[in-house]
Amino acid sequence: MSALIIRGVRPYGEGEPVDLTVHNGVITAIGSTSDTDAEVIDAGGLVALPGFVDLHTHLREPGREDTETIETGSRAAALGGYTAVFAMANTDPVADNAVVVEHVWRRGREVGLVDVHPVGAVTVGLQGERLAELGTMARSAAGVRVFSDDGLCVADPLIMRRALEYTKALDAVIAQHAEEPRLTVGAQAHEGETAARLGLAGWPAVAEESIVARDCLLARHVGARLHVCHVSTAGTADILRWAKARGTRVSAEVTPHHLLLDDERLTGYDPVNKVNPPLRTAADAAALRQALADGTLDCVATDHAPHAAQDKDCEWSAARPGMLGLQTALPIVVATMVEPGLLDWRGVARVMSERPAEIAGLPDQGRPIAVGEPATLTLVDPAGRWTVRGADLASIAVNTPYEGMELPGTVVATLLRGVVTARDGKATA
Ligand code: DOR
Ligand code: ZN
Repeated sequence: MSALIIRGVRPYGEGEPVDLTVHNGVITAIGSTSDTDAEVIDAGGLVALPGFVDLHTHLREPGREDTETIETGSRAAALGGYTAVFAMANTDPVADNAVVVEHVWRRGREVGLVDVHPVGAVTVGLQGERLAELGTMARSAAGVRVFSDDGLCVADPLIMRRALEYTKALDAVIAQHAEEPRLTVGAQAHEGETAARLGLAGWPAVAEESIVARDCLLARHVGARLHVCHVSTAGTADILRWAKARGTRVSAEVTPHHLLLDDERLTGYDPVNKVNPPLRTAADAAALRQALADGTLDCVATDHAPHAAQDKDCEWSAARPGMLGLQTALPIVVATMVEPGLLDWRGVARVMSERPAEIAGLPDQGRPIAVGEPATLTLVDPAGRWTVRGADLASIAVNTPYEGMELPGTVVATLLRGVVTARDGKATA
């Protein structure tokens, strides 16, 4: 196979521009090269980062292929700079057995744009009552290492304890959607001034924080690892800080929308802003940005949640929660973290790629940009700006809360083990 040269790129946005030479999917030289046979990507002015890893994606296949498929979701991922995604288990049928997880895994491989790792359900049918066959899913061809009932909380403390014991033995991790269901019956929005003014039933911060505190204590008691999905409150960040300081094996993610948006957006009752956990206050969002900068929050995960028009263009209380996220994640991180000086490009690599790869135990993602390492890379134009149009995104669904917004930071190309999977706005493999 002939070589590929990425010319004039700045790894991590640092130092002088270099040429990256790629052979057979591996970076074989970093420096300047004059190889004339090679295919060349002119990357002058671009920043090279390790390919992004999303621990939290809803791909909707099987069951809701009218809103997203593994193929369209993979395209959105590649265009967003992702090289691996974790497909949540709340499909129809639920991914609570080897047959479903192997289907998702195989389909991901056939499409070939991004490594699709199925997340296995913790409980049968996401019902929260009986543990699913975690071991069978772990030993299946899909090699499941992340388990989650996301969309729903593993609320029963005894089931959660048993799940932590099993995943400890399997060297896997439970990703908890932290929501005490008794405190969120009928909830429609963050419990606070805005919800009171709009007459929407409240989803209190304590419903998240009480589960996170409980699960940190359980994980420490069992000696297991816990991952907290979509942290949304300042109080949860405080609990995580405390738990990490005493050596609890806990990691946590934050979504781009919880970094940028707040519940003031609900004023027009547009269900595009409905999401679970809900948009919180501006003070919460500011605390989450600080917590991501200082490492209390380990990584960014999209919670990419496509929904059909009939499930979004309806009255607030009937609308499903969720927003598209794969193609807008990097720009939102640039706007909320890089531009204000909270993270440099090294930091972006850490929260978008390295930490999520470590949390999920992926050996060949989130790797250093160095000779001998896989050419699994994202090339970003830091000066690029683009205007979001839901209809132009690769997803079937169009429920982006950023419609019409001009965002900074463009993904120019994505490479998965040397194969170009997206370039200049087109998914290519
Ligand atoms: O907003 C959300 N949408 N939160 C979840 O927990 C589930 C997700 C979905 O599946 O649509
Ligand atoms: Zn969730």
